[in-house]
Amino acid sequence: MSSNLGRFLDLADVGREGVLDLLKLALKLERQPDPQALAGKILGLVFLNPSLRTLASFQAGMARLGGTSFVITPGQGTWALETRMGVAMNGGAAEHIREGLPVLASYCDALGIRAFADGKDLAADLADQNFLAMAALVDKPLINLESAINHPCQALADWKTLDDVGVPTRAKFVLSWVNHPRALPLAVPAAVVHMAALRGHEVVVLRPEGYALPPEIIERARRAAAESGGSVTETSERAAALRGAHVVYAKEWGSTAHYGDATRDLELRAGLGDWQVREPWFSHAAPDCRLMHCLPVRRNVAVADEVLDGPRSLVLREAHNRLLVQIAVLHRLLARSST
Ligand code: CP
Repeated sequence: MSSNLGRFLDLADVGREGVLDLLKLALKLERQPDPQALAGKILGLVFLNPSLRTLASFQAGMARLGGTSFVITPGQGTWALETRMGVAMNGGAAEHIREGLPVLASYCDALGIRAFADGKDLAADLADQNFLAMAALVDKPLINLESAINHPCQALADWKTLDDVGVPTRAKFVLSWVNHPRALPLAVPAAVVHMAALRGHEVVVLRPEGYALPPEIIERARRAAAESGGSVTETSERAAALRGAHVVYAKEWGSTAHYGDATRDLELRAGLGDWQVREPWFSHAAPDCRLMHCLPVRRNVAVADEVLDGPRSLVLREAHNRLLVQIAVLHRLLARSST
């Protein structure tokens, strides 16, 4: 990613060399902060869905670089925004994104948008239709704060976390489905499987029947693996997947076999209570196997206390790294000179 490139939407756009360059900058700015780099610059943050880490870390990152930020949560103190095109606006939303987003972009130097999947039409969500429609309305540097099918800031922070604790690029990386009371989007699993493949890992996607990642996500990750010498496979055989694992990345996502059907999904996951990461999961893993999760995590549903509070857990480091890598992204996008 070159200085003032203008967009941070997908690690695939940035590429392996660009990722390594951003991580080098993150390390440099951690050691030698640049507190006036973005003096006078403004970041707008639009959250169509809730957040703790993304919201706080972007505001903190902007402040650490001498800039400022504003946050819009449509419908909570500001007008609710209509995102559908071509509809008669006779419902709750008073303003359309076609006006709202260009107006907000005109007030700032860069804009971040979080817009989760609708969770109804898999093809539309895989194509990131809503986010891309919003991106087309913004003529300023733009950051994906999590869209239907991507979370590049999380993926970049996770790559840094793997570097920090010395996980080698050829290590076995298991992305495991874990249980949750309801169906969650595919953004993090899609971004993480791509990141791990691009880093060069032997990636195994472990999930119960009915939760296979869509072929589009797997094929994209395989293309990244081909570039980096890694591999991507998918299985429901837990013991085999976990044998020799160096990293278990736990993540919840909705059934792809019943995408958009909350009732069928709920029926399916009712029998999947043992898809909770517990200490015995690691009995045949590598001795220092690590546990990762993007947070927020449902304790004792997705991951047991004994694992989250134990020495394997990297979850707090991952969350802290969100701040460090986003400082690098902001610096690249907005600083006058970004080395
Ligand atoms: N991991 C992550 O994006 O956290 P938030 O949803 O709290 O921003």
